[in-house]
Amino acid sequence: MDNRSQWGSRLGFLLAAMGSAIGLGNIWRFPATAYENGGGAFFLPYLFALLTAGIPLLIMEYTIGHKYRSSAPRSFKRISKGMEWIGWWQVIISFVISTYYPIIIAWAVMYAYFSFGQSWGDDATSFFVGDFLQVADAGTFGAIVPSVLFPLLGLWAVVFIILGLGVKKGIEVANKIFIPLLAIIFIIIVIRAVTLPGAVEGLNAFFAPDWSQIKDGSVWVAAYGQIFFSLSIAFAIMITYSSYLPKKSDITNNAFITGLANSSFELLAGIGVFAALGFMASQTDQAVADVVQGGVGLAFMVFPEIISEMPASGLFGFLFFASLVLAGLSSMISISETYIAGIQEKFNVSRRVSVTIGGGLAAIVSLFYANQGGLNLLDTVDYFINNYGVALAGLFEVVAIAWFARSLKDLQNYANDVSDIRLGSWWRLCLGIITPVVLGFMMLQNLLGDLKDNYGGYPIDFLFSFGWIVAISAMFLGAILTIKKWPNETKSQ
Ligand code: PHE
Repeated sequence: MDNRSQWGSRLGFLLAAMGSAIGLGNIWRFPATAYENGGGAFFLPYLFALLTAGIPLLIMEYTIGHKYRSSAPRSFKRISKGMEWIGWWQVIISFVISTYYPIIIAWAVMYAYFSFGQSWGDDATSFFVGDFLQVADAGTFGAIVPSVLFPLLGLWAVVFIILGLGVKKGIEVANKIFIPLLAIIFIIIVIRAVTLPGAVEGLNAFFAPDWSQIKDGSVWVAAYGQIFFSLSIAFAIMITYSSYLPKKSDITNNAFITGLANSSFELLAGIGVFAALGFMASQTDQAVADVVQGGVGLAFMVFPEIISEMPASGLFGFLFFASLVLAGLSSMISISETYIAGIQEKFNVSRRVSVTIGGGLAAIVSLFYANQGGLNLLDTVDYFINNYGVALAGLFEVVAIAWFARSLKDLQNYANDVSDIRLGSWWRLCLGIITPVVLGFMMLQNLLGDLKDNYGGYPIDFLFSFGWIVAISAMFLGAILTIKKWPNETKSQ
């Protein structure tokens, strides 16, 4: 097992982990989520979630990866036989995400290019859904959209090369370039944004605390949801990445650094986005509240309008979309590595073969989103796979480890042996009680909501086929992969 790939340096690991954590979620999800859930007051539940769930879970996943030095399914299996399934389930979830995530990056590539000529004209929204994506009704698929297909193929080529080169020469080198570059570009964007007229109003809207919301349970759930997604927890990613750490590596310190870097980037994104929104509101005589959006809408409908209003806007637009590409690519690589590692170990094949099979399969499936129905499909799959995939698998993971396998104490001792910061019983309390309770509550709340109303107003049969079935199949496929024995573990183990 000692010829296992390894990171070349601690910094390399940290940059790769940050590259995974810092993704589209930081740039387009955090600002709107914070704003809608109490603005400045949101920082309280957010910090609470970071310290009671985010960092403790990150420490747990780093410890598991470091201790068992395997892909997520095999690491879980080594904790307890019955847990292998949870690992495969997470790997399949990651696979599903890796089939639509590059679509968004492909849009960003095109928009980086569109920025210079401002191809979106006066109406960015109708350009995005009409001219660019030619969106069809939900449930219909329609023709392939070449302006998505070609950048998508290009991105897959880049991903194949990076993954094919391996952990140290591929993933580490890529992140060593992407993440510092992303930081520089992003700081330039934020400086530009805060010096625009009207920026202050945007920042006031973002930071103004609405303390009355803090009493609302859903605000706390939103904080936990943001932290989980943002830190790439329960995606099998962090276990895989930490399995490549050299034996002598600090665990808790690395987890704190990753967590704090990710949150700092989130805060920075909040400032940049709201400064830009304040500018747009002042230019168009609207209230900041009326222009706030998150997700795809923020990046591809609101930002193009902001860019159009700005002086010397081509460069700013290019930098904004380039930052989405860099943040997205490094997350994309991390999510694909989960199944590359899983396939390689389970089927005892070389890295090249597993990249070809795993990446090839994901690339083929991703083509289904490069058509006129792609936007609705992506939106639905994303919602269901996050709520009934990532969050649910996270709940199973902590419950299995803390309650059934009862291995928290073991993991705590292991982490303490190699780390500077020592974990106390607070760590077990966070993982054994606080996290399962909040995640369980979150599940229930989402489930009740989704059974009552159709998500996004989509037709029920569409949601059934591409939402529920996709999420549930991930669970079953995970179970099927568990059946096959590991190479050289065929006897008793
Ligand atoms: N942490 C990522 C983000 O904020 C979440 C993610 C990781 C999504 C990997 C996809 C792949 O965007």
